[in-house]
Amino acid sequence: MLKLGVIGTSWIARSFIDAAHMTEKFQFSAVYSRRLESAEQFSADFEAIEKFDNLADFFKAPLDVIYIASPNALHFEQAKSAILAGHNVIVEKPAFSNPTELTEIIGLAKANNVFFFEAARNIH
Ligand SMILES: NC(=O)c1ccc[n+]([C@@H]2O[C@H](COP(=O)([O-])OP(=O)(O)OC[C@H]3O[C@@H](n4cnc5c(N)ncnc54)[C@H](OP(=O)(O)O)[C@@H]3O)[C@@H](O)[C@H]2O)c1
Repeated sequence: MLKLGVIGTSWIARSFIDAAHMTEKFQFSAVYSRRLESAEQFSADFEAIEKFDNLADFFKAPLDVIYIASPNALHFEQAKSAILAGHNVIVEKPAFSNPTELTEIIGLAKANNVFFFEAARNIH
């Protein structure tokens, strides 16, 4: 079971958790919010969730995957910090602001032997 940490407490984050649980491969385990009250409300339906209002502490948690569903302008720095802390990352779409940021994140993920995915589905 992959331990899933979540940044952001809006409806899209909840939808992602519900979908992730349907795969039976992920276990929602930790949430970061700017306010602990929001983290508590967001995770009230689940048991044994670690709640953080400090990003540095959140990134130190023993998680396998971090899903980032914050406002777009925050994705790059949060994804970078998550990767440097050794986590695989799934970033909501649009993942980054420009190709330079995307290239840097792909390079960092390779260098740190973790996966980076944008939460977008391509239908061909
Ligand atoms: N895949 C899709 O179909 C889909 C659909 C909708 C959205 N999205 C993407 O999902 C991401 C989130 O979108 P959203 O509409 O949920 O955004 P949002 O409600 O504006 O923000 C998401 C979360 O980020 C935190 N946040 C909000 N403003 C912030 C700020 N100024 N500084 C730091 N944190 C802030 C809040 O969590 P706390 O208050 O708990 O810190 C909030 O719950 C975006 O990248 C968006 O493009 C994708």
